[in-house]
Amino acid sequence: MERRQLSEAYTGAFASDYDDRRSQSAKWLAETEAVRALLTDLPKGSSLLDVPVGTGRFLGLYREAGLDATGVDVSADMLREAAAKAIAGRGAVLVGASVFALPFANAAFETALCVRLLNWLDASDFCLALTELARVSRRYVLVGIRSKAGRPGLLGTFLGRRSAAGETTSRTIVHEKSLIARGFRDAGLASVRQSLVPHGQAGTDYVFYLLEKRA
Ligand SMILES: C[S@@+](CC[C@H](N)C(=O)[O-])C[C@H]1O[C@@H](n2cnc3c(N)ncnc32)[C@H](O)[C@@H]1O
Repeated sequence: MERRQLSEAYTGAFASDYDDRRSQSAKWLAETEAVRALLTDLPKGSSLLDVPVGTGRFLGLYREAGLDATGVDVSADMLREAAAKAIAGRGAVLVGASVFALPFANAAFETALCVRLLNWLDASDFCLALTELARVSRRYVLVGIRSKAGRPGLLGTFLGRRSAAGETTSRTIVHEKSLIARGFRDAGLASVRQSLVPHGQAGTDYVFYLLEKRA
């Protein structure tokens, strides 16, 4: 989706109904478990930037993991939903900004996390977002990305026709694995741990990567 359109999509009822429409889905629950597992690798008490923080769905996990969280989103309405969770005891600093121009110094956070955004971005913006996440991170970047499955098998090949690499499925983009590798490399990131998330979309892999900045 084009940048401006995406930055205006999550407003009004779309923001207030966001959790209700998704939070019981298998994908949402699997993502939550993947993030919970990967957070155990992060140093307790360290800082984490979540962009886009959306409605603050992971704020409780950050608290559980003993992390000092900051959330960024372009949508004031999504930030309002996140603020309600922060007030309800899952504290976090919330900031309105874009992933393409984060208002933080280099290496301001131990970890930068990005879930459910990178598949809305075309190849060029995908790489820009990764570079910006890596810039503000001291050590780790944690991202969820859907890509074309390595070996889909017969059924996957048949069902996955509509979700070939680089193609738009619904409105998101299934990225090429080669683009992901290039994006990581150009941003100076190397994968240290991965978690394959069940997603119910044939012909694709949905992977959460814990990445580390190369020295
Ligand atoms: C699908 S939601 C994901 C939110 C959250 N990460 C989650 O997993 O539920 C996409 C979010 O990206 C935000 N967004 C869109 N463009 C953005 C940008 N350029 N920078 C930061 N956030 C952006 C939207 O406002 C929305 O909250």
